[in-house]
Amino acid sequence: MSCLITLCVYFLSVLSAVMTKPITEDIDVLVLLPHNNTYLFSYDRVSPAIFYAQRALEADGGPYSGFRFNIHFEKSDCVNDALFALVDGSCRQKPDLILGPVCEYEAAALVRLASHWNIPVVSAGALAAGFRSKSGEYAQLTRIAPSYLKMAETFTAMFEHLHWKSALLLYEDDKQERNCYFTLEGVYHQMSDYHVRLYTFFQEDRLDTDDVLQNIQDAEAVIMCMGADKIREIMLAAHRRGLTSGNCLFFNIELFNASSYGNGSWKRGDKYDNDARQAYASLSTVTLLRTVKPEFENFSKEMRRSSEKAGLLHCDDCGSVNMFVEGFHDAMLLYAIALHEAMKNGYNKKNGTEITAHMWNRTFEGVAGQVSMDVNGDRNGDFSLMAMTNVEAGTYEAVANYFGANGTFQLLPAFNAERFTLTGRHKEPVDINKSCGLGVSALTGVIVGAVLGTALLIAFYFFRKNYRITIERRTHSEEVNTRKHRQLREDSIRSNFSAA
Ligand SMILES: *[C@@H]1O[C@H](CO)[C@@H](O)[C@H](O)[C@H]1NC(C)=O
Ligand SMILES: *[C@@H]1O[C@H](CO)[C@@H](O)[C@H](O)[C@H]1NC(C)=O
Ligand SMILES: *[C@@H]1O[C@H](CO)[C@@H](O)[C@H](O)[C@H]1NC(C)=O
Ligand SMILES: *[C@@H]1O[C@H](CO)[C@@H](O)[C@H](O)[C@H]1NC(C)=O
Ligand SMILES: *[C@@H]1O[C@H](CO)[C@@H](O)[C@H](O)[C@H]1NC(C)=O
Ligand SMILES: *[C@@H]1O[C@H](CO)[C@@H](O)[C@H](O)[C@H]1NC(C)=O
Ligand SMILES: *[C@@H]1O[C@H](CO)[C@@H](O)[C@H](O)[C@H]1NC(C)=O
Repeated sequence: MSCLITLCVYFLSVLSAVMTKPITEDIDVLVLLPHNNTYLFSYDRVSPAIFYAQRALEADGGPYSGFRFNIHFEKSDCVNDALFALVDGSCRQKPDLILGPVCEYEAAALVRLASHWNIPVVSAGALAAGFRSKSGEYAQLTRIAPSYLKMAETFTAMFEHLHWKSALLLYEDDKQERNCYFTLEGVYHQMSDYHVRLYTFFQEDRLDTDDVLQNIQDAEAVIMCMGADKIREIMLAAHRRGLTSGNCLFFNIELFNASSYGNGSWKRGDKYDNDARQAYASLSTVTLLRTVKPEFENFSKEMRRSSEKAGLLHCDDCGSVNMFVEGFHDAMLLYAIALHEAMKNGYNKKNGTEITAHMWNRTFEGVAGQVSMDVNGDRNGDFSLMAMTNVEAGTYEAVANYFGANGTFQLLPAFNAERFTLTGRHKEPVDINKSCGLGVSALTGVIVGAVLGTALLIAFYFFRKNYRITIERRTHSEEVNTRKHRQLREDSIRSNFSAA
């Protein structure tokens, strides 16, 4: 009997040793980042975050300490280098995981090949709407930074909240990486229920602000994506035309470069500074909402140290870790969690489909806070709306937040409703009420009420009808725009990138 108990205890201890022993595996990681430090996701900026994550994962005692990451960096150039690096490297051995690339066109080609080879790709880029469709050529892509479509939800939530209906999307096309084109493409797709028009200009052309402002017409909001200097040029021109005093609201989208919006963004030290400050009072910026927790302080301190060591010159924004740096760190965590689960279920590291499936539809603790991945493998985003809250000083504050995971648009104490009201328009006739003041008798009241009700119903019916016709007409002109939009894409230089 006692022998049996001893045996049982022995087996139990063996079993528990097996259970707690971490799963061991060597993982080949191919990381594709540009070396040119003008990119916010350059090797010098992002690689310290990847090593930081590796150290944390491999540290003794953790559930992932049995993983050994062999991290191999290759150069990306936002054109073809990433693809060539994958093909050349794979002649020896295919990687188990690919991190990056960020640039849209480069990612498109690489992800197609990786999906064909069943290799998971996790990127803090590839944000264009076209990557949303994961059933075919982008099956292995997991996006660890919120895509442009997720960003665009901020606008639909805001438009719904503030009852706006029309917008002009105004962007600069560089014909190369086309970040602004893809940014506003996301807004265009997301806002299909609104009256939206497009205006493009090319980077090398002179900006014709008169033509731009003429195109604002009756748009309630202008949503812009372009360089900081062009934004200022347009805001100054709009200010001169009196468009910044409640006739129209201006927005720009700046997700990553914290030094190009907010406090001081209007300042250049020239004679227009004062006008620009006043003009920027009607310019709000949509940017990523960044959360900070104690561990993040540690992480960002170390990232700053690494940046300084690498001698990064453009270090205005080094104080705040950008989204790419954070994203690639969290990509390592997410992959480790997914691989661990897949291996526990008896799959091996070469089954990309299975591992990728474990990365999707889950929430985990990232370096800056909770990271929520949707069922389609795209990160849900949180965004902030920054607006000038003190026009005298020209300082900005966050006035509203949008939480992608639960779709909430939340107004903050600094939100000033007046500032987001269009005062120079919507002078609808409201004289109907005048006849109500007579109040002769109850009966008359009822009759007047009934007549009024009927009139209102009829008016509503005609309004609806008219409204529909207007929408239809607009849809027609939108088609023309869409065609132009598509044509642009098909004409594009390096890829027949087929977005939705
Ligand atoms: C880095 O990129 C910028 C902008 O694309 C370019 O002007 C510059 O020449 C590049 N630097 C190097 C070293 O390639
Ligand atoms: C960020 O914005 C600042 C100010 O507009 C600009 O000088 C800088 O070049 C930008 N950085 C990147 C990487 O785009
Ligand atoms: C910060 O990092 C240091 C060394 O990397 C570590 O010893 C310390 O425990 C960390 N602190 C927190 C709050 O994570
Ligand atoms: C990968 O796992 C899936 C189940 O998710 C299975 O159908 C498939 O056969 C596996 N592929 C390989 C290569 O093992
Ligand atoms: C996503 O996860 C939730 C709960 O974690 C689950 O109920 C749901 O079925 C999952 N959806 C898919 C498509 O796997
Ligand atoms: C802008 O400056 C004001 C006043 O100095 C400060 O309160 C505010 O936090 C700053 N805003 C940002 C976004 O840094
Ligand atoms: C949505 O999520 C945010 C952040 O997680 C939270 O602060 C907020 O209360 C949530 N809103 C609702 C209505 O659940």
